[in-house]
Amino acid sequence: MPAPSKALKNPYLAIERGDPGRIGWRIHYFDEIDSTQNAARELAAAGADQGTVVIAELQTAGRGRMGRTWHSPAGVNLYATIILRPPIPLAEVPRLSLVAGIAAAQALEREAPHIVALKWPNDVWLRGRKAGGIIAEAVTDAQSRLSCVLLGIGININLDVADIPDELRDKATSLRVATGHPCDRIAIADSLFNLLDSRYMETLTRGFESVRPMWEHYSALTGKRVAIVVGDRSESGVVVGIDAGGALLLDIGERVERIVAGEVSVEGAYE
Ligand code: BTN
Repeated sequence: MPAPSKALKNPYLAIERGDPGRIGWRIHYFDEIDSTQNAARELAAAGADQGTVVIAELQTAGRGRMGRTWHSPAGVNLYATIILRPPIPLAEVPRLSLVAGIAAAQALEREAPHIVALKWPNDVWLRGRKAGGIIAEAVTDAQSRLSCVLLGIGININLDVADIPDELRDKATSLRVATGHPCDRIAIADSLFNLLDSRYMETLTRGFESVRPMWEHYSALTGKRVAIVVGDRSESGVVVGIDAGGALLLDIGERVERIVAGEVSVEGAYE
């Protein structure tokens, strides 16, 4: 891991808050890094407390779900990884990315009312285009028990339309593009960590069921006809919602299927 930035003062210091264990109690800041996921993994291995956050201005190897890269240009967006140490089974880790999706949607709603949506499992949309993504990487111990979760959140905030790569131009957006004005990254990070702390604590104390309606409120897919590719098979149907485990419920005519992973493409998506 490179040494934390000495060249740049940490502008996120101002939003550190709370005791160890609360999200955002400590924020490590890098001007350039391969991926905040890697730095967080090293910090976690060295014993960093839950709620420790790694933020970078630029990622040279930002990663998305399914082995994709995450476009991470300098100085415009938010690239953050949060170390969580939840007392949950490994199988429940994917739910945490849905919980993070709720917090991201709620944080963006304050800046961009009525145009925020969540596309299952963990894309954040503004006006039907992707502005953010979430990845939850589980780290296990020698007994294959969960030791921590590296919750990575990328949000395009002040990315200019001209800086969206050609191949993403019709699919990606940013808060600035969607609202027409630049936004304060530090204030958004502050809201995000605050809201994530609340949604995460609610989930741990009262279960995912207690936050599920918030996810449903933002669901871009509910009521839409979609096609879902799961491995080498494809299912088509109408999305009914998500269940208490965070699985997507797909009405395929003769029954409702529970989809736990897959890539969804939408016919007549949220606009
Ligand atoms: C996705 O939609 O595919 C998930 C994207 C997650 C991107 C974030 S940016 C901060 C953190 N560091 C990474 O390398 N990836 C995540």
